[in-house]
Amino acid sequence: MKKLFTWFIMSAMAISVLADEGMWIPMLLGRNEADMKKAGMRISAKDIYDINNACLKDAILLFNQGCTGEYVSDEGLFLTNHHCGYSYITSHSTVEHDYLTNGFWAMSREEELPCPGLTATRLVRMEDVTAKVLEGVTANTSEGERAAIIESNIQKITAAAMMGTHYKAIIKPFYYGNQYFMYVNEVFTDVRLVGAPPSNIGKFGGDTDNWMWPRHTGDFSMFRVYADKDNKPAPYSADNKPYKPLKHLEISLNGVKEGDFTFVFGYPGTTQRYVTSDHVELTANIENPIRIDLRTIRLKHYNNAMNKSAGQRLKYASKVASIANGWKKWQGETQGINRLKGVEKKKEFEQRFQQWANAKSEYRDVLPKMHEDYEKLRPIEVELTYFSEAVRASDFMGRAKNYRDLANASEKEVAEMVKKLKESNEKYFSDFELHTVVDKAIFVETFLYMWKAGYAPYLGDVKSGDDAEKKLSKIYDESMLNNKEKLQKFLDGYTISKAKKLNDDPALKLYDKAYTLAYDPEKIATYRRTYADIQRLMRSYVKGMMEMQPTVKFFPDANLTLRVAYGHVEGFRPRDGVYYKPYSTLQGIMEKENPDIYDYVVEPKLKRLYNRQDYGRYGVLDPQRPNDGPDMPVGFIATNHTTGGNSGSPVLDADGRLIGLNFDRCWEGTMSDLLFDPDYCRNICLDIRYCLFIIDKFAGAKHLVDEMTLVGGK
Ligand code: ARG
Ligand code: ASP
Repeated sequence: MKKLFTWFIMSAMAISVLADEGMWIPMLLGRNEADMKKAGMRISAKDIYDINNACLKDAILLFNQGCTGEYVSDEGLFLTNHHCGYSYITSHSTVEHDYLTNGFWAMSREEELPCPGLTATRLVRMEDVTAKVLEGVTANTSEGERAAIIESNIQKITAAAMMGTHYKAIIKPFYYGNQYFMYVNEVFTDVRLVGAPPSNIGKFGGDTDNWMWPRHTGDFSMFRVYADKDNKPAPYSADNKPYKPLKHLEISLNGVKEGDFTFVFGYPGTTQRYVTSDHVELTANIENPIRIDLRTIRLKHYNNAMNKSAGQRLKYASKVASIANGWKKWQGETQGINRLKGVEKKKEFEQRFQQWANAKSEYRDVLPKMHEDYEKLRPIEVELTYFSEAVRASDFMGRAKNYRDLANASEKEVAEMVKKLKESNEKYFSDFELHTVVDKAIFVETFLYMWKAGYAPYLGDVKSGDDAEKKLSKIYDESMLNNKEKLQKFLDGYTISKAKKLNDDPALKLYDKAYTLAYDPEKIATYRRTYADIQRLMRSYVKGMMEMQPTVKFFPDANLTLRVAYGHVEGFRPRDGVYYKPYSTLQGIMEKENPDIYDYVVEPKLKRLYNRQDYGRYGVLDPQRPNDGPDMPVGFIATNHTTGGNSGSPVLDADGRLIGLNFDRCWEGTMSDLLFDPDYCRNICLDIRYCLFIIDKFAGAKHLVDEMTLVGGK
């Protein structure tokens, strides 16, 4: 019944916002306040964002340019995900101090580890600057002029906003340029690593469990921001003091129940909520399948190698994590879109829009023109996808590109380039015997796949797959790039007069042919022009959609600006006969335990705590099994609309208290960047009680919990 009902709503309002869908602008949250209160919120929109008073917004930070963090003490201590802090944990890890594997806990401020390059950005205020940005733009302004006027206005407005302050201002377009907001930020640059659990807690389940529920990953790490004596951002200095945030989050130990109101406050990166059926079709049924197939090939070979030795595992771990992350997400996305009949639904909406637009000169041609544009864009997109996912798949072709650059370099540039290439060769050839097996297989198979699909005509007159394979294999074996001694000698005596020899190498010849085909200048010019035209048409389309549906509350696509998503804790039915409860517990970690599988090794100390049910104040009794003793909650899911960049975002309760850390989405709902379905779309959160339990009971770093403000619990 519920299914039918949802179906009805979806078809009737295909493009209007559904329950729990939306990533809202904090400054305009007053518009959602009544709805949020109805859903259970007990605080006000002003408690979340207020330009005149310290509010929850002041406790949120953008972690570098891709994750979110939140202050949990008045001494600059903040939480984010383990996978967000990953590269900083790795960069401090050595064989003797392997913090990635064993975890790291600063037992004093002196032990906190500086992370050069890491930034923590606080939003000071935001402002609607649409009128100022569009000043001078009229209905007759050409697109080129429009862009120039906007750019110059943006320069002026941001310069004025920053004048006399240490703030950084940026302006971003919303709704494809129908609206502009300015963000005035304070960017902190002395950020230090404070704590991280061992990998088999922080990344428990690894890529096997990635994007999936039930989940048991303790995906958190801790950092501290330092500031100068005036509490202002300053580069690293031993004299800096812990930053005093205007606000830090209170943490609730009360936990969550199914149905509870929750909201996520953070920095979602990109969504494409309003694109047309052509775009959805291109992503779901043309590009994703190509990407998935090609990544399946790469993952097969890397995983084979990783299963052979610990050394190989380490070598490929982070590469595989990133290849596999997209690979798995796209599969869920395509399935989700097709299950929802996403393309058909978009088409139905487009028909309705067209009927409405027929009488309006401003909108009449928007959809037909956009359709023409997609016809032009599609074949080029596909070729570029092949280039990035197949041509660039092997290290062999990546290196061919570097040597192409060398062959093209001027006399002045050569010495520096040769030096860099020699350094990287040193590393590259250190385990060449093992690596080349993997790399050659990836090179041959990805090109072969492309050739079979008709995208590698430059392989010449090969008649069969076998022929193509032989040809590719020969290229790999005969290239100087795979011959350490020859290459070394060649680089030792390299001058630009030797470029010809590089140009004749089979690797560069192949790379050049592939590049010329994909990046033919005329084709790329068409691509750019068409893409820009689609952006222009989307601006009209979204404006028209709003005019056509004046009672619908629209939200702008994510663009790495601060947003609020709200919903409630809720399980779901991923497929027939299966219902997922919205929580997971430590018991599930023990069920998954497998000492022989890397992703499922459980720390002995965690097991001891489990066996003794020694959960301190963080455990909970199951009212249905009170005699069994306490359980340790680990994760929960909710209906908050989130995307990449929301990782590390605080998940807050009806009183604005921290109850969890957002870190992922359920696989069955990963189409939410294009299409949100309240039956399937769930964000995955780490229960804050598990995080505190790990810090306090597992790591013995209670001094960190003591800095925090805990409320509720037993
Ligand atoms: N899927 C999550 C996100 O998109 C987590 C990725 C990191 N974890 C991993 N096992 N690769 O960021
Ligand atoms: N795992 C993502 C992130 O790192 C979150 C998501 O895509 O839901 O931001």
